[in-house]
Amino acid sequence: MRLRNLKDKDVWLDNCSYLIKKPEEYKGNWHKVFGNDGPIYLEIGMGKGDFIYEMAQIYPYINFVGIEKYSNVLARAVKKYPLELPNLKIINMDALKLQEVFDQEIATIYLNFSDPWPKERTKERRLTSERFLRIYDAIFLGEKRIVMKTDNLKLFASSLISLSNYGYVFKNVNLDLNNSDIFNVLTEYERKFVAKKIKINYLEAIK
Ligand SMILES: C[S@@+](CC[C@H](N)C(=O)[O-])C[C@H]1O[C@@H](n2cnc3c(N)ncnc32)[C@H](O)[C@@H]1O
Repeated sequence: MRLRNLKDKDVWLDNCSYLIKKPEEYKGNWHKVFGNDGPIYLEIGMGKGDFIYEMAQIYPYINFVGIEKYSNVLARAVKKYPLELPNLKIINMDALKLQEVFDQEIATIYLNFSDPWPKERTKERRLTSERFLRIYDAIFLGEKRIVMKTDNLKLFASSLISLSNYGYVFKNVNLDLNNSDIFNVLTEYERKFVAKKIKINYLEAIK
């Protein structure tokens, strides 16, 4: 998601009390950051934050961390959600560096409308490619759980294959999430697709 530069972007980020500026300092100690032993759920590519902010309010006993690659996008989330929640932290970082920040402490990873990278030569950039699944191995604690939703059928199909080849099994697969009985919190992107009646693909995979 590339957006026009947000005026005062740095001011919004500098003053955000729940943005973790040096996340590497907390590697292995994220439970201390939250001050409890509750599970930690991670959203990769949180965009403008609708999903993770609402999830954190619905599930106060779960700790949430949202990461976003582009500071310009994250600043918009901070502007939209200025109030700190006790169970939510956010980080401006690329998922490629997750191992520098977490060590066997994540219970669930959410991938919501990840960039599809449709070309063969860039398929390793998909967040469900083997390159990323290896990175996730190092940050998961115990059972690994990935929950994904996307409008993009090609990304969805390639993710099913990649996850399955990597040893994940599927607890739930659905090709029309918003007409199912699966509980669902909408993301910014999803709202636009739902308004256009575009079907959303959903999977929950465990290893
Ligand atoms: C298509 S947008 C979806 C945003 C939001 N999840 C939603 O559903 O509305 C994908 C987001 O993932 C972020 N992203 C892509 N690759 C990433 C990576 N390797 N690490 C962190 N964020 C990433 C992008 O910057 C963008 O904000």
